[in-house]
Order: sequence, then structure tokens, then C-alpha cells
Amino acid sequence: MAVKGRQQYGRVGPRKTSSSTLVLYGLIMLSLLIVILLALGILSISSSTNASKDSPRAHDLSFISHNSAHSDDGDEESKDQWLEVISWEPRAFVFHNFLSKEECEYLISIAEPHMEKSTVVDSETGKSTDSRVRTSSGTFLARGRDKIVQRIEKRIADFTFIPVEHGEGLQILHYEVGQKYEPHYDYFMDEFNTQNGGQRIATVLMYLSDVEEGGETVFPAAKGNISAVPWWNELSQCGKEGLSIKPKMGDALLFWSMKPDATLDPSSLHGGCPVIRGNKWSSTKWMRVHEYKA
Ligand SMILES: *[C@@H]1O[C@H](CO)[C@@H](O)[C@H](O)[C@H]1NC(C)=O
Repeated sequence: MAVKGRQQYGRVGPRKTSSSTLVLYGLIMLSLLIVILLALGILSISSSTNASKDSPRAHDLSFISHNSAHSDDGDEESKDQWLEVISWEPRAFVFHNFLSKEECEYLISIAEPHMEKSTVVDSETGKSTDSRVRTSSGTFLARGRDKIVQRIEKRIADFTFIPVEHGEGLQILHYEVGQKYEPHYDYFMDEFNTQNGGQRIATVLMYLSDVEEGGETVFPAAKGNISAVPWWNELSQCGKEGLSIKPKMGDALLFWSMKPDATLDPSSLHGGCPVIRGNKWSSTKWMRVHEYKA
């Protein structure tokens, strides 16, 4: 019986095995097919991205990429918000219509009564000093001072991927005709200023007003063909001395003072060209490597 059973088992066994092997085989083939299809799909997606003429090349300043960017607050008209790659050396991007007209006007209105002549930070003492290189007037707004400022600071964090807590308070600046800020770095060369929050990693510069002429943000050390920007002919003489961005109400310029490898980026050298006609209002958010105790 036992032998028969074994024989039976042995006889039936191979038949069962062959049919289940067939099913297994089929399943394996099917998975293989799926894997191959997936691989092909992925390959075709990545190769089409690489081959796409929409892919920005480093140093190609004439290139403009229109990426859709959505508004974080649904209550307002998110009129034509889009991201423009300005340069990869320095890493600079313009988020168009980042702020609404109302937000720009609000920031100016709360800052205006407190405007003081601008100073620069003395790298020897870490103290603020009066300076010829910076002739604007300005004031700081405490971080999270009110609902509107909080909302803007959250939007900056979402845009930059740097937490709100790493940001210094917003600075509001006003440049009148002839006023400027000579090219400088936003990062520090001293120990004093990096004690709280460490080095400055990136800056978001928001334009709160249009400027009729001049007032460009210029990067004199940018790599690439600076005259290839579509707005080249509209730039002031100063603006033509580097890669320039024209101030436009609501636009936000993001640039990085540090490279992805966490070293300082000397190509982030930048200045504010003299205003020739009109008035320039801007707001700056400096962000640190670590949390900044406000
Ligand atoms: C820079 O760009 C301008 C405008 O596209 C072009 O006329 C000029 O030849 C370019 N210069 C160089 C050195 O590529």
C-alpha cells in the first residue's frame, strides 16, 4: 500500500507538477513582460526628457523654462505664476507673480513708517555701519509678525524647501533715483554673523514695485552669455555689466549663495543697479543653513 501510494503519488505527482509549473512559468513570463514594458516605459520617459529641447542647459541664459507652479492660497487669482530658470552659475530662478499686488502694497505700507538709512554689516566687528556702497533705506519686519507675513514666509519656505525657522526677518528696502547697492555676497566671511543660524545659504528677493528704468539686480560674476537674455535691450548700462533681472512687481528672485556641495558660490556676487527713473521697493528674505533664532 505504501509503495502503491508512493507510486500513485509518484505517478500523479509529475502530472500535477507539470501543470503547476506551466502556470508558474506563465506567471513568470507575464511578470517578465510587465518588467520589460515598465523598463521600456521608464527608458522612453527619461530618454524623451533628455532629448527634449525643453531641457535647460547650464550657462544657456537664453533658455527659459515655463514650469507650472500652483498658488498655495486658493482665495486669490493665481495669475500666470511660472518659474523661470535664470542661471545655473549662480543658481538663480525667478518665480513670476509670487506676491499679489495687495501683498506688495501691504508690505510697503507696514514698512514705510519705519524706514531708516541702510547699513552694511562690518565683517571685522559684525556691527552695522553706514556705507557708500549701499544708499537705500530699509527696515526689518519681525518673522511671523502677522497673518499676511506668515503666509508669505510659508510660501517662501515652500518655494525654496528651506523651513520658515531658517529665515531671517523680511527686510524691506526702498531705492530712489540714483540709489543702488554695489555688488556684494550675501554670505559672511566672519565668525560673528554665523553664530546664529550659520551661513546664509540662499536669498529670495521680492520686487514690490515696478521700476521704469534701472534698478536691475545684476550678477557680474555669472557664467554664460549675459547678452542672450531676452530683455537685454531694456537694461541700463549697469545692468549690462552682468546677468541682470529687471524688477517687476510681485516677482521673486531666488538665488543660492552656496553650491549643492555646501561650499560658498562666488558666482552669487550681486548688486542693485542705480534707479534711473521711478522708485524701487523690494523685500529680502535671507535663509540660513541652520535654524535662525529670531
Ligand atoms: C550671446 O548672445 C547673443 C544674443 O543671443 C548673440 O548675438 C551672441 O553672438 C552671443 N555671444 C556669444 C559669445 O556666444
